[in-house]
Amino acid sequence: MIPITDLGQQYNEIKNEISRAVEKVLAEGKYILGPEVTELEERIAAYCGVRYGVGVASGTDALVLSVIAAGIGEGDEVITTPFTFIATIEAVIRAGAKPVFADIDAKTYNINPAEIESKITSKTKAIIPVHLYGLSCDMAAITKIAKKHNLTVIEDCAQSFGAAIGGKITGSFGDFACFSFFPAKNLGCYGDGGMVVTDNKEYADKIKLLRMHGFSADYDYRLHGFNSRLDTLQAAIVNVKMNHIDGWIEKRVENAAKYAEGLKNVKDAEAPFMPPGYKHAMNYYALRISGGRQKRDGLKKYLTEKGIGNNIYYPLSLHLQEICADMGYKKGDYPVSEKTQDEIISLPMYPELGAEKIEFICGEIKKYFRV
Ligand SMILES: Cc1ncc(COP(=O)(O)O)c(C=O)c1O
Repeated sequence: MIPITDLGQQYNEIKNEISRAVEKVLAEGKYILGPEVTELEERIAAYCGVRYGVGVASGTDALVLSVIAAGIGEGDEVITTPFTFIATIEAVIRAGAKPVFADIDAKTYNINPAEIESKITSKTKAIIPVHLYGLSCDMAAITKIAKKHNLTVIEDCAQSFGAAIGGKITGSFGDFACFSFFPAKNLGCYGDGGMVVTDNKEYADKIKLLRMHGFSADYDYRLHGFNSRLDTLQAAIVNVKMNHIDGWIEKRVENAAKYAEGLKNVKDAEAPFMPPGYKHAMNYYALRISGGRQKRDGLKKYLTEKGIGNNIYYPLSLHLQEICADMGYKKGDYPVSEKTQDEIISLPMYPELGAEKIEFICGEIKKYFRV
C-alpha cells in the first residue's frame, strides 16, 4: 500500500526534535500565544520577504480574517477560481460578500487572468488567487489588474508554501497571504493551524485584533472578533519543520521529475505544467488524463485496487455545488474548470516517496493504459 501522503514517515525522521520542542512548551506553560508563535510568525514573514505574520487557527480562518480585515462585507464581490477547496469562498460568504468566479487556465489549473477583467463590476473589491497544487498563479498579470481597478489581492497559499516565481515567494505578492498548516500541506502541523502574512502594519494589527475577540488591552474590545489563535504547541511543531522545509520541497520536486520521466510515453497522461521561471512546491502531484471522466475514474479504480493512494482535487467545480445553487451559476459557465474536474487525478506525493515506489506507480499506470 502506498498512501497519497505519509506523515508518519516524516514524523519518525524528526521525532526527537519534535519531542524536545513539545516538551519545552509543556514545561514553560505558555500555551496561548507563547513565544513559539511569535518566533514562527517572524520566520514565515521573513521567508516570504514581508514584515508581518499573524498565526491563526487554520487556513480557513486566515482567509476569513483577511477578507474581513480588508473591509469586505455585505454587497461586495470577490473574484476567485471555481476550481478550489470550498474554504476559499467560505471566507467571502462569511463576510457577507459574493464570490464571483473566473475560469481557470487549461495548463496551470489556476485562475486565468484573461478571465478576470470581464468579471469586474462596481461591486468588486478583491481577487483571491489560489496557487493550486503548489504552483503560483500568474501574479504579474493579477497584480496589474488589481492595481488598475484598485482591488485588494488576498493570496490563498494553503497549497503553495515555498512556491515562487523568479525567486519571489508566494505570500509576497498580495496585500494579504493565507497559509494553512493542515497536516497534509507542505508545511503541516499536527492538527489545525494557519497564518496570515502581510507587508501592511495596519492589516497585521487588524488581524491580531480579529484573532482574539477584538481584544486590545485590559478588556478594551476594538472589534467584534473571533477566537482564532494558533496554538503554541502547533507553532513549536511548525518551527521544527521550518528547519527542513526547503529540503523536503526539493525532494518533492525531484519526485515530480521522476514521475514525468516514468510517464513520458503515456500519451493520455499529462504531467503538471512547469512554466519557465516558476518553482512548483508540489503539494499535490496532479496528473491529467485525456479522454474524459470515465477514463480517469477507471484509472482511479485501478490504482485503488493496486493499493496506490490517489485523490481527485476537485471532482466538482464550486459553481456546480448544490450549496452554491443560489449564486445562479449553471453547467457550462466555466468550461475549462468543468473539463479539468473530469480529467484530473492526484498521485502519491511526499518527500520520502522515492524512486522505487514511483517506478512501481508509473508501471501500474502504464499497464492500465497498455503502454
Ligand atoms: C486551497 C485551500 N484553501 C484553504 C484551505 C483551508 O485550510 P485549512 O484546512 O487549514 O482551514 C485549504 C486546505 O484545506 C486549501 O486547500
